[in-house]
Amino acid sequence: MDLFFLSGLVLFTLFLAVSLAYLFRNKSKSSYSNLPPGNMGLPFIGESLEFLNTGRKGHPEKFIYDRIAKYSSPIFKTSILAEPTVVVCGAASNKFLFSNENKLVQAWWPDSVNKIFPSSTQTSSKEESKKMRKMLPNFLKPEALMRYIEMMDSIAQRHFAAGWEGKEQVEVFPLAKRYTFWVACKVFLSLEDPEHVAKFADPFNVLASGIISLPVDFPGTPFSRAIKASNTIRKELIAIIKQRKIDLAENETSPKDILSHMLQATDESGEHMNELDMADKILGLLIGGHDTASAAITFIIKYLSELPHIYNQVLEEQMEIAKSKKPGELLNWEDIQKMKYSWNVACEVMRLAPPLQGAFREALNDFVFNGFSIPKGWKLYWSANSTHRNPECFPEPEKFDPTRFEGNGPAPYTFVPFGGGPRMCPGKEYARLEILVFMHNVVKRFNWEKLISNEKIIVDPMPMPAKGLPVRLIPHKHVD
Ligand code: HEM
Repeated sequence: MDLFFLSGLVLFTLFLAVSLAYLFRNKSKSSYSNLPPGNMGLPFIGESLEFLNTGRKGHPEKFIYDRIAKYSSPIFKTSILAEPTVVVCGAASNKFLFSNENKLVQAWWPDSVNKIFPSSTQTSSKEESKKMRKMLPNFLKPEALMRYIEMMDSIAQRHFAAGWEGKEQVEVFPLAKRYTFWVACKVFLSLEDPEHVAKFADPFNVLASGIISLPVDFPGTPFSRAIKASNTIRKELIAIIKQRKIDLAENETSPKDILSHMLQATDESGEHMNELDMADKILGLLIGGHDTASAAITFIIKYLSELPHIYNQVLEEQMEIAKSKKPGELLNWEDIQKMKYSWNVACEVMRLAPPLQGAFREALNDFVFNGFSIPKGWKLYWSANSTHRNPECFPEPEKFDPTRFEGNGPAPYTFVPFGGGPRMCPGKEYARLEILVFMHNVVKRFNWEKLISNEKIIVDPMPMPAKGLPVRLIPHKHVD
């Protein structure tokens, strides 16, 4: 169906190209004499297929590096996801974008995102994410996060008992997803029943791969499948919200999760959020909070199997912590603070395999950047992946070296897996905790070997090993 859709789409856009290309190009050329170099490709489709395909082939940075080399410029214009876009690369560009939030640029998500989250279109994704931003600090503040560490550890223990222990080999990627999803369901919704949690999991996978796609709602397209999936999840979330309201009315003690925060939160005019908005917020958090972290965990397992000397140092750090615990005692905030080397390793993994490749901004007005005109309404795309692989930012960029994060760490705006400036990922600290809790639990139990030595990596839109990273488990002899 994908192939059928693709051929149809290409024919359709070729037709459009003939009729519109001349008009479109002339318009951009005549209005702005000094646009960045680059090629707008075909109208509507632009260079989207190349952009998405280099990712699917595992090298999203190639789309950017090829053009930087071709135009001899770290800034170039293109058209992706049906939008004229300026792609920027490097620390100076990141700094410019992150420091000009709401001055020259504002956050922008592709049309596909707005259409998949329909309540966002009622007010625009900008307004929605502002509301979200106001609410998140309560739920992600340090006191709350400290309480979540024990929750995460007990979920990790159950996860390893159910999915890893007693097995000779496992597929890491689906298991990492299951872990982060279980954690999110517990922390956001106090949901623990495995059957109930499983009900959500499948549509989430469909949803994730349709979010960054061409917004063509045609049966069988990733976009259309994602819309269906989001409706299924939203229905389930609304049922949970209704049940929670009933429980609260019956005076049951309210669990301290994100849903409780949302039910209590009011806006400036004292209004409570409606159920659909609430469902959409939780859906956004579940998406933001589980696929990203599970991609990071999967690549940590991959790199640790390839680099035994790094694995040994992580093991040493984690066993020190494990030995200091009483039997049955769960991890706490102090333990997390001791996991410095492990976090440096996780950061180096996210440098080489950032879970999110980059994000978009929209120009609020015409402005000039690096001598080039950026027209109002055009989109700008900053790229974590290509910044992380830029030798000016990270010498010997292909070398895995966690010591880059020691001392003051990388220079500002070079290490950007969580973005930067006012829109930096609000879930960064939460992600750090769930990743470290996972690392503790996995190295404490096992060593492992990859079963496919050169497994292909696909980026769609998160990086993932094509076969799910199957590994052979080698349990340690003495585990508490
Ligand atoms: C390793 C894990 C994660 C990575 C690499 C990551 C990365 C990012 C990045 C790059 C952005 C976009 C910033 C921008 O537009 O400039 C972002 C936004 C966001 N992330 Fe994360 N994230 C992770 C985990 C999480 C978690 C666990 C949560 C929730 C608990 C979360 C919630 C969000 C939200 C709500 C936004 C949108 C913020 C806004 O629009 O202002 N993320 N994240």
